[in-house]
Amino acid sequence: AKQIQIAIDGPAGAGKSTIAKIVAEKLNFTYIDTGAMYRAVTHKAMQQNIQLDDSDALENMLSATKIELQPSTNGQLVYVDGVNVSDVIRSNEVTANVSQVAAHANIREVLVAMQQQLAAGGAVVMDGRDIATHVLIDAELKVFMSASVEERARRRHLDNERRGIESSIERLQEEIALRDKLDSEREASPLIQAVDAVYLDTTNLTIDEAADAILKLAQDVM
Ligand code: C5P
Repeated sequence: AKQIQIAIDGPAGAGKSTIAKIVAEKLNFTYIDTGAMYRAVTHKAMQQNIQLDDSDALENMLSATKIELQPSTNGQLVYVDGVNVSDVIRSNEVTANVSQVAAHANIREVLVAMQQQLAAGGAVVMDGRDIATHVLIDAELKVFMSASVEERARRRHLDNERRGIESSIERLQEEIALRDKLDSEREASPLIQAVDAVYLDTTNLTIDEAADAILKLAQDVM
């Protein structure tokens, strides 16, 4: 089998990371969660009281930051300057601010270069918002995954419950809709389906059904 690159994009809560992890595991590929990198930068900036609209300050901070992704049994661990931040970067506070940080073109440039380096050898499943359109434009398989905003809020709610994070479905729905709007309307690499991506609506699919759909598409190009 070929060591292909699989790019999965889509809005918040569409099931990208859950499904990408399964696909990666089945193919024995590396899973790379790019959202975690934007979250890691956001988390550090908030800790250092850096203004999130100050792209120069953010860039300075990032140039002195070590971000490491480490594949693990349940997906991927994220280290910032040697500290495991895998859980804290999922907090409501980071989630509420990450789109503002991710909108800065200079920050994206640095993280995209890291992502391209990580994926250079192939055999990767990478998820995010701009993977097919900017990061891995030659990926052999591109999938744009979505689901209704109601279903996505419901899934995030279950997810939060499992993580012990308090949440309300109504607030999640607002939060997700706002994040989608910010991610889709920003100037730098907005969230959009690539022309050569396959659209996968997961609203009425189980996790396994969605993973199988992608695995089938992958077999066709391997
Ligand atoms: O995927 P996740 O929900 O963790 O992504 C968090 C945020 O990071 C997104 O809402 C988006 O603002 C940003 N992001 C991005 N480009 C990516 C991945 C994530 O702008 N490739």
